[in-house]
Amino acid sequence: MNLTFQILLLSFLLCSVHCLPTYPPCSIYSLSPPDNNNSSDSNRQTSFNSSSKATNPDLVKSLPDYAGSLPEMYSGYLAAENFKQVFYTFAPATTPTDKFIVWLQGGPGCAGTLGLFSENGPIIIDPYHPTPQDNPNSWTKFANMLWVDQPFGTGYSQGEEPIASTVAIATSDFMQTLKSFYAKFPEMKEKEIYLVGESYGSVWGAYFAQALISDPELHTIPFGGLGIISGLVSDYETQNVITASMWLDHVNKLGLYYSNDTSDISRYFGIRNQQCGYAQVMERMQFPVQQSPIPKPQVNLSSSFQKRQADSELDQIQEAFQVITDCDTYTITDFLLYLKNHCMISYDITLDCSFDSNSDPLTTYLNRKDVQQQLHATRAKSDLVSSKGVFGNGCNYDVYGEIVKHGSRSILDEVVPELVKNKKVSFLAGALDFQILWTGSLLALQNTTWNGWQGFQEAPDQNAPSGFTLNERNLAFTLSNNVGHMAPSKDPVMVIDWIQKTLLD
Ligand SMILES: *[C@@H]1O[C@H](CO)[C@@H](O)[C@H](O)[C@H]1NC(C)=O
Ligand SMILES: *[C@@H]1O[C@H](CO)[C@@H](O)[C@H](O)[C@H]1NC(C)=O
Ligand SMILES: *[C@@H]1O[C@H](CO)[C@@H](O)[C@H](O)[C@H]1NC(C)=O
Ligand SMILES: *[C@@H]1O[C@H](CO)[C@@H](O)[C@H](O)[C@H]1NC(C)=O
Ligand SMILES: *[C@@H]1O[C@H](CO)[C@@H](O)[C@H](O)[C@H]1NC(C)=O
Ligand SMILES: *[C@@H]1O[C@H](CO)[C@@H](O)[C@H](O)[C@H]1NC(C)=O
Repeated sequence: MNLTFQILLLSFLLCSVHCLPTYPPCSIYSLSPPDNNNSSDSNRQTSFNSSSKATNPDLVKSLPDYAGSLPEMYSGYLAAENFKQVFYTFAPATTPTDKFIVWLQGGPGCAGTLGLFSENGPIIIDPYHPTPQDNPNSWTKFANMLWVDQPFGTGYSQGEEPIASTVAIATSDFMQTLKSFYAKFPEMKEKEIYLVGESYGSVWGAYFAQALISDPELHTIPFGGLGIISGLVSDYETQNVITASMWLDHVNKLGLYYSNDTSDISRYFGIRNQQCGYAQVMERMQFPVQQSPIPKPQVNLSSSFQKRQADSELDQIQEAFQVITDCDTYTITDFLLYLKNHCMISYDITLDCSFDSNSDPLTTYLNRKDVQQQLHATRAKSDLVSSKGVFGNGCNYDVYGEIVKHGSRSILDEVVPELVKNKKVSFLAGALDFQILWTGSLLALQNTTWNGWQGFQEAPDQNAPSGFTLNERNLAFTLSNNVGHMAPSKDPVMVIDWIQKTLLD
């Protein structure tokens, strides 16, 4: 149990009160126009040769309101222990490939089905595509794809057991789910499996990968590597507080926050960073880094305050620093962003009041009975989990509360350094993401030892217009200046390039 880890997650929940009427990593969509000029699927072909396709009861035969010719996809339930039924969707690759990717949604407690239909599946539904349409950037173009509503209790998953309450339970449930999947689709055993997690999905991905490699039944399945998008890697202080001013400097440099003089912000942060010991930590973020642990200052973080308006730019800055007198520079930054943009959404700071976060055609769609029927997401008779709402908004607060209450260790403590001994691990972070600060992830990585050295040795080019990639000793870290938290929905082409170059290659 790790207290600071919990605080980080709880702060996400509190933040979501002013950020979003919905719940963390669920339903944020890109503002880019739809790229559906060629959604023709006339030459769609699959490399997957299920001899039982025609008779497989999980084959999705139609989707309400979808007009095209449906890509090959299967959905239904995979049995985990104790009669738990985990909802899955499997879509084989449309070109021959030996890659198999399992997508793991964040939250914790958000359904993989959300990612399927809003981030990387063959059919997309979002404010720009309120009815289901072909996704020209579906990951099925280069990989066989599996989405699961896990941990048990999320999305369409159902059964009479209590919801998964710890990472350990979620891990053993996932192993069982995967075994059920391979029993249904034995051809997939030949494929190289990759786990890709978003946000809290970093924790799922890392612990599931560790379990997969050592599982007596599954260890013979070729494991390719772990991809992490906007992943949580450290505690609140290291992930989001210590480097908050560094993160804001980068945003300023991109011209996204303060267009003119930033000297007042720098002055105030300079004083606070000195007082709280953050300046010393940031000075240690060198490339190469001194080969010893970077000490973390002991500070008080309370940050309970009421947001209010201020007038001039200088007033706003002073206001933020006067209202928040402790060392919680993340909350100060949050306040500064709020003063500039009252509709600030921490998942993507470039979204403004023109973004209607109440418009959520996807969860409306997934809550329809006719849709659930076609997806084989039928409700069982004695069903405690789904009696709380068959799909709801796609995120289960009870699962979130349980997982957060029990906490877990940072994936960089042991799990990732162990994985990269033989396998690739690749991180993607977005500069516009204020949920998980990329500067905090990089700080945590510079404080991590893997394959004999601490941190990256090469310095990143922080002035590169689109971002940078560091790739050393099996571990890659990419920053994209173009995306926030839900990278695949904001810039799908960049994300596909990232995954192909740093993970699948
Ligand atoms: C859609 O049109 C744009 C601009 O005309 C083009 O760049 C893009 O490649 C097209 N996409 C597809 C999938 O045909
Ligand atoms: C759309 O794709 C089809 C099939 O690949 C192709 O024949 C057609 O020329 C494409 N149309 C456009 C506008 O790109
Ligand atoms: C697909 O599977 C069937 C039945 O197992 C087999 O007869 C056929 O040759 C396979 N086709 C390909 C292209 O592998
Ligand atoms: C920054 O720009 C705004 C609007 O362009 C202007 O009102 C403000 O006075 C400027 N502040 C400084 C310190 O130059
Ligand atoms: C760096 O890692 C050590 C453990 O190796 C830990 O005690 C310390 O808090 C970490 N520093 C930061 C800034 O997270
Ligand atoms: C943290 O807060 C407590 C209670 O308000 C106080 O006693 C303590 O001195 C503070 N510690 C630091 C390092 O400021």
